[in-house]
Amino acid sequence: MRSYQNPLKLIEILADGNFHSGEELASDFGITRAGINKYIKVLREWGIELSSIQGKGYSLKIPMDLFNKSKIDQYYQADSRVEILPIIDSTNQYMLDKIPELKSGDCCIAEFQSKARGRRGRQWFSPFGTNLYFSMYWRLEQGIAAAMGLSLVVGIVVTQALRELSGQDIKVKWPNDLYLNDQKLAGILVELAGKTGDCAHVVIGIGVNLNMTNPDPNIVNQKWANLGNINRNLLVAKIAKTLRENLEKFEKNGLAFFIDDWNHLDNFIHRPVKLLIGDDVIRGVAKGINDQGALLLEQNGKIQAYIGGEISLRSDE
Ligand code: BTN
Repeated sequence: MRSYQNPLKLIEILADGNFHSGEELASDFGITRAGINKYIKVLREWGIELSSIQGKGYSLKIPMDLFNKSKIDQYYQADSRVEILPIIDSTNQYMLDKIPELKSGDCCIAEFQSKARGRRGRQWFSPFGTNLYFSMYWRLEQGIAAAMGLSLVVGIVVTQALRELSGQDIKVKWPNDLYLNDQKLAGILVELAGKTGDCAHVVIGIGVNLNMTNPDPNIVNQKWANLGNINRNLLVAKIAKTLRENLEKFEKNGLAFFIDDWNHLDNFIHRPVKLLIGDDVIRGVAKGINDQGALLLEQNGKIQAYIGGEISLRSDE
């Protein structure tokens, strides 16, 4: 496997946002300037935007607040682990691969994902150091049947955490998106391992746009939003802590306990929406969710519940 040690070291030097000359960097690394150019190329492949000015050298267009284990530990003291992976294919895949070693609440975060997954087999745009890519493992004693409720609770909890930290009016969109100003801010991908009738091994993946610039239009093809500058280490600690606390509450009390929170945060409640189910389009007015996590739609004065894996919700205004 290719070693990423030197490109990562280069990012640490450039993270301050200042210019660093090619000579200075070459001497820090004990290599030629051509060698530095090779690492710069790797940084660009990871989606990092750099300025390069003759006579001044290189700088990051946006300074980076890199993940730092001791800072996260300062904000979050718990016996579960938060592992930092600078470069990974997918944080969800990483957790799925090590389920036998994990305890509920164990998390990992990455600076960059090369094969990040979204829902419905889509990709998730994951440039280095600008967003949040977070996964948590949870052993769900009630089994796979409870996973729908769990994924809605994750949306509520992450929304509340982001609202508290940023003061912005973040909302949920059924089933698993977070919205800001009617644009997608974050996505949740819950992946399961385990047999029916047994406990479910759940990996909860969360991607939040923080300072994303120029996303690949082949991957990001809907309106999107950034949360903006935020203390990323504090964000990780807060999400890890509140997710743990609330997943325990969910296991004891079920989804019913969270319905009021959902309805309060629902981006589309009482608004006209359309549901896309395969080739069918169903129109109605969104009326929140029921105890099973189904979307409630009012059509001709009647409330109908919709649930399932292949339903997409869109505004119909
Ligand atoms: C969506 O399609 O809206 C869900 C996106 C989920 C992305 C996150 S980023 C961290 C975790 N690792 C992955 O590969 N995907 C999820």
